[in-house]
This record gives sequence, C-alpha cells and structure tokens, in this order.
Amino acid sequence: MNVVLLGPPGAGKGTQATKISREFGLVHLSSGDILRAERKAKTALGRQAQDYMDRGALVPDDLILSMMMDHIARPDATNGFLLDGFPRTLAQAEGLDARLAESGRPLDVVVNMEVDDADVTRRLTGRWSCPTDGRIYQEMYSPPKAAGVCDDCGSRLTRRQDDEPEVVTQRLSTYHQQTKPLVDYYSHRGLLKRVDASGTVEDVGAAMVRACRG
Ligand code: AP5
Ligand code: MG
Repeated sequence: MNVVLLGPPGAGKGTQATKISREFGLVHLSSGDILRAERKAKTALGRQAQDYMDRGALVPDDLILSMMMDHIARPDATNGFLLDGFPRTLAQAEGLDARLAESGRPLDVVVNMEVDDADVTRRLTGRWSCPTDGRIYQEMYSPPKAAGVCDDCGSRLTRRQDDEPEVVTQRLSTYHQQTKPLVDYYSHRGLLKRVDASGTVEDVGAAMVRACRG
C-alpha cells in the first residue's frame, strides 16, 4: 500500500506516521525529517534547504521531488511507503503522479488530517523530539516521564528551530496558500479520506487506520 498524509504543520503527521507505517508494514518517508538529516550532515542539499526551512518557506520543488523519488526508489520502499510532508505543492503532486505512473506504483489513499490553526499552534509551541530515535512528545498532551528526556532511549529532547511562534505563523500561511489546494486535487482523483485530527492521539490513530483500510 502507498499512502500520503496531508495536513497542516502540527496536525500530527509524524506522530501518526510511526503507528501507521508499523501497522501496515510501510516505510515512513518524512520530507522534513530527511531535510533535517541532510542539514545535520551538512550536505549540499542540506545547505540549500536551510534558509527556506528557517523562514517557514518551502524548499524548491525540483530539489524536493528528486530527493523524495530517490527514497521511494530504494529497496525498502518496494512493499509500500507512507509519505509525510510530501507532496506539498501542485507541482510536487503532479510530478509524483507522473513518476509513480511510470513505475506502475500508484497511490492507494491520501489521508487529510483536519485540525484548526489555533490547535496546531498550541501543539507546536510545546513539541519536543528525540534526536536519536525521532519520538515526538508534547509537553501538555503527551509529556515524557522525566522532563526533557526520551522515555525510550534516554537522550536529551530537543526543540525544532521552526517551532518559534513567528515561524509557525509563516508555516501556516505557506500551508494555506500552497498545500491546501492538494485536498481538492486528490479529492478529484477519488483518493482522499478525511480524518478529524483534533482528538486524542489514540482516537486520531484509530480513525486513520480505519481510513487506510478503506
Ligand atoms: P515538516 O518537518 O514536514 O513540518 P510540517 O509539515 O510543518 O509538520 P510538522 O512536522 O511540524 O508537524 P506534524 O504534522 O508532523 O506533527 P507532529 O506529529 O510532530 O517540514 C519542515 C520544513 O521542511 C518545511 O517548513 C519546509 O521548509 C521544508 N519541507 C518539508 N517538506 C517539504 C516539501 N514537500 N516541499 C518543500 N519544502 C518542504 O505533532 C506536533 C505536536 O503535536 C507534537 O508535539 C505532538 O506530540 C503533538 N500532537 C500530535 N498529535 C496530537 C493530538 N492528537 N493531540 C495533542 N497533541 C498532539
Ligand atoms: Mg512532522
């Protein structure tokens, strides 16, 4: 099965992607996580992406499309993939469709995670992540057992630079202008499933598994 998770920043894409990819045996491909790894490794792509990410703007389509198609072509993705944060523009969605059609591996379902701007802003300003295993926490809704420390591996949790309030506002504006049109794009193709993502992590997760099962 090949799945896309759509939704605003802070909708819970990363949180639910871990669960869904495990449930259905999919490889989880988060464009944001891949870009952050490229930045950490100081690659040419990481350096090109840096300024856009810090401003809450989108990295150019051609860079993203080739980066993601490279990951989709890897052997671990042949049994199915879950795309998180990609595509994010109409040009990316059309490019993805064309490339997947060439390789005969079409998308099966696009899950749109619906949650309003006030909720996602609250979530993002309290987000902490584990730099070692990627586990995501929220200081009000899903805090770690010991403050600032990953429950699973004991690493010190970190905050993302783009979770500063003014960057969150810019990311939401970018989302509304450039990514929200993809809801109609995939709806017209008969692939869209809508999930209310404003409930608890458990309730949203159960609704998303149902949406993927169809
Ligand atoms: P990216 O990393 O993709 O960020 P994003 O889409 O803005 O989404 P987030 O990762 O912030 O949120 P999420 O939906 O994963 O939520 P999470 O599960 O963490 O992209 C970063 C940047 O990279 C972009 O701004 C852009 O510059 C660049 N980029 C990436 N992809 C690109 C592309 N395709 N094209 C161009 N540029 C691209 O949850 C958030 C918080 O809420 C957590 O603390 C979590 O614990 C909590 N939470 C989750 N679910 C719930 C719940 N149900 N109730 C309460 N709290 C919850
Ligand atoms: Mg994420």
